[in-house]
Amino acid sequence: MCGIIGLTCIPGSTPDRPSLMVYRGLLRLEYRGYDSAGVASVSAESSRVVVLKGRGRIAELEGKYGFSKVDGFTIVAHTRWATHGAPIDVNAHPHTDCGTKIAVVHNGIIQNYRELRRELTSRGHIFVSETDTEVVPHLVEELYGKRRDIYSAFKKAVEVLEGSYAIALISVVEPDKIFFARKDSPLIIGLGNGFNFVASDIPAFLEYSRRAVVLRDYEVGYITPVSAFIEDLRESRPVDYTHRVRFIEWSIEDASKGGYAHFMIKEILEQPRALKNTLQGIEGDDGFRKAVDLLLNANRIYVTAAGTSYHAALYYSLLMQRLAGAQVVPFIASEHYSYEGVVSEGDLLIAVSQSGETIDSLVALRAFRERGAKVIALSNVIDSAIPRESHLALYTRAGPEIGVAATKTFTTQALALAWLAVSYALAVGRLTVSEAEGIRGELRSSPRLVSEIMPLIEDRARRLSEWLSARSSAYYLSRGVGLPVAMEGALKLKEIAYVHAEAYPAGESKHGPIALVSSGFPAVFVVPVDNYLEKLLLGNVQEMKARSAVTIGVAPLGTSLEDQLDYLLPVPRAHWALTPLTHTLPLQLIAYYTAVARGFDPDKPRNLAKTVTVE
Ligand code: M6R
Repeated sequence: MCGIIGLTCIPGSTPDRPSLMVYRGLLRLEYRGYDSAGVASVSAESSRVVVLKGRGRIAELEGKYGFSKVDGFTIVAHTRWATHGAPIDVNAHPHTDCGTKIAVVHNGIIQNYRELRRELTSRGHIFVSETDTEVVPHLVEELYGKRRDIYSAFKKAVEVLEGSYAIALISVVEPDKIFFARKDSPLIIGLGNGFNFVASDIPAFLEYSRRAVVLRDYEVGYITPVSAFIEDLRESRPVDYTHRVRFIEWSIEDASKGGYAHFMIKEILEQPRALKNTLQGIEGDDGFRKAVDLLLNANRIYVTAAGTSYHAALYYSLLMQRLAGAQVVPFIASEHYSYEGVVSEGDLLIAVSQSGETIDSLVALRAFRERGAKVIALSNVIDSAIPRESHLALYTRAGPEIGVAATKTFTTQALALAWLAVSYALAVGRLTVSEAEGIRGELRSSPRLVSEIMPLIEDRARRLSEWLSARSSAYYLSRGVGLPVAMEGALKLKEIAYVHAEAYPAGESKHGPIALVSSGFPAVFVVPVDNYLEKLLLGNVQEMKARSAVTIGVAPLGTSLEDQLDYLLPVPRAHWALTPLTHTLPLQLIAYYTAVARGFDPDKPRNLAKTVTVE
């Protein structure tokens, strides 16, 4: 998905050359996925904005254009992921007006761009790209012609836009300002001394600023090198944002590769620390107690999310069923309309989203709120849209996740949701105090348990991945709480190694999927620590072996299935409820090594974006 970084500064006030600071920010946006990039700059002497842009990787474009050496003290830059218009040079951002006095970068989709473009063209504006974004500079140019006030022209232009947007605009008219607007696409101000940033992601400016204000929908305004002005477009009144300035605890090391080949492997290995920090957050936060109160007072409980977060949501619903005897309806966020008809006041929705900005989850949340449901959010990003629009926000503390594939955010979500389910089961009397404390004790030891996995499996996972890298398809099978883990394993293999993988409850094989199995077909089993499930899975493993499938098991040390498995990836024994914590890392690792063996960059999977802000 697209990324934005903008900086405005007093000459001589910045720790590095301004264009270098923006360039470094641009590199930190690479992980979002992009096909082209560009930079625009302006300074007090400028009569035109300078724009450098093109298709390709940032490093290549730097070689060609010298992004990091552009002159000027007010600079915006962008990474583009094509939506409207092919990934070609002319469609890259920034886009300009006819007079090249205004430059705009934009994330999101402007839905009414065709009508706007038609109107503006009829008034003589000349468009050079196929993008929706290009209407913005032309619209501002048109309105500035009438008003002679660039901010008021910008605001007026934003008012007529329909769709989603995070916009940053610079102009020769007021060259020390970056104008911005946000709706349904993240945008954050980073505050410095003598300089200020606006960006779509905190890591983009984290090296230079740790004080941030997360903008809200319908907020517009501008930054200068020494101030920020924000107003609410709907109410036309300035916003006092001083109490919203957050100190960002993430370190720059968290957002850097730190010697690892890829962010993904670094983030896989960071899981023990991410779990430890999340535990500290849970135990020091009253939010989990408040969440249990909301759950106790709810008529119906729903849990929603997308992608990996949905797997955590599904795990939560299975856990609530088994530990607390409570029914929690899990649904994929983009399918929310199928559930809205039955939602009413008194119902509760838990929305799980690492980024807190996934539009499908946000739309589901809004639909439930409109029908009177209460909403609890679980997110990894403080102040992001989903927690902000919820009645109660809970957080994981995984730190920034740069790899597109979710890894540490999944296990920390599972930890937080397990804690919530145990607390609820205790509150409704389905677990005794000692039973609840027993599971909590194991959850507390999850950082240690997870740190024990890598030495147990690293070599085996590497060898297995070499073999897997030459396969074209795989099944991931499990039962009970192992199923969401199997689903997560299959998603990882698909999204970064481009090997087709399908997960389903192991008992379903005989109802169809086994027809596809022939000699050498990979069947990965997730075997929870559970005698009953282990017995059931034994039958399923044998079923696969009888068709000469290659059986691979992620199973607790000492599993009775050992003789039946062609490859065993052993994990420490723990309570069955911890299955996502103990069994996920091997699957992440297999996907990672397989991607590398196949020559793909696991951090930048094709066609994917880290945060999906389009429905
Ligand atoms: O930020 P969110 O948790 O809401 O994101 C949801 C999905 O887009 C995300 O988990 C996606 O499936 C990842 N590519 C998984 O690795």
